[in-house]
Amino acid sequence: MTEQIAVIPGDGIGQEVVPATLDVLDALDLGFEFVDGDAGDAVLEERGEALPDETYELAAESDATLFGAAGETAADVILPLREAVGSFANVRPARAYPGVDAVKPETDLVFVRENTEGVYAGIESQLSDDVTTLTRLITDSASRRIAEYGFEYAEANGYEDVTVAHKANVMRTTDGQFLESCSAVAEEGNYEYDEALMDALAMHLIMHPEDYGVVICPNLAGDMLSDLAAGLVGGLGLLPSANVGPDNALFEPVHGSAPDIAGQGIANPSAMVLSAAMMLEHLDYADEAATLRSAVESVLEDGPKTPDLGGDASTEDVSDAIIDRL
Ligand code: NAI
Ligand code: MG
Repeated sequence: MTEQIAVIPGDGIGQEVVPATLDVLDALDLGFEFVDGDAGDAVLEERGEALPDETYELAAESDATLFGAAGETAADVILPLREAVGSFANVRPARAYPGVDAVKPETDLVFVRENTEGVYAGIESQLSDDVTTLTRLITDSASRRIAEYGFEYAEANGYEDVTVAHKANVMRTTDGQFLESCSAVAEEGNYEYDEALMDALAMHLIMHPEDYGVVICPNLAGDMLSDLAAGLVGGLGLLPSANVGPDNALFEPVHGSAPDIAGQGIANPSAMVLSAAMMLEHLDYADEAATLRSAVESVLEDGPKTPDLGGDASTEDVSDAIIDRL
């Protein structure tokens, strides 16, 4: 069966790292059908909407989506697209690579972040000129779903340490529920894990990232802790991510449109290519995903390197080198 992949480059360096990644995927010759979709700042200007309905539909009906980056319209584009693919888990690996300067070279973390509720559920009110409120939504069902995903991910990918991040000493009802749901799933599946208060965890992750593997988080904690971990491993040019749903998923680098370097052809394509490797794994092309990942690692170690990693190579030099390694 031919897999249909929606390809949404978006703005800025999305227009550079996505074509580079398609060249790499073409070299793997998997017979995918790539269908382009428009979204982002430029589309808003041309058509009056950042995410046209047909792009939303394209993501919803494809087998998977590759997304580059949006600029100012990011929230109007990526949040609906994550919903279009029904994603409940945001998976963000933060790994240090040999040959790349990292604050903590021993870092090998995967954040499994609840992607639908918490304080990002959008339940906000302005009650008066003085008073604003936000409701934090935590359900047993969504908490169980993310816990199951996290425990299974750890087992499937060989991570021994699983940590559930929370702040149940203060948010007793909501994070109390989150902990209870995670605990129930662990008991049913016979999984071992630790609980960690998210503020103290932020410190421990910086001092001893080697003590952690998979970190299961409520929405906001996952957003913040994964960006913190990005700082440990050498920057945004390296961090891929997956937004996973029951039968569809969207893959995107963690970075944005990088207007400071857009148009120069010097963006690091590694985060986007590694996102494509996550997509291959998701589509059950495990061998090809592993081959692609080791080609990227070999280029990260020996070069060529883009300026963010201290080199002077172009985006295309790097994608060509990845293709050579394949
Ligand atoms: P950014 O991720 O675009 O850039 C932050 C810094 O990292 C910049 O100095 C940039 O040059 C560098 N950088 C990022 N990716 C790189 C790569 N692949 N290679 C080399 N250097 C790279 O974040 P920033 O500057 O905060 O936001 C820029 C725009 O992107 C904003 O309009 C923001 O709304 C949007 N954004 C979109 C996201 C998305 O589409 N998912 C996520 C984050 C930001
Ligand atoms: Mg963020």
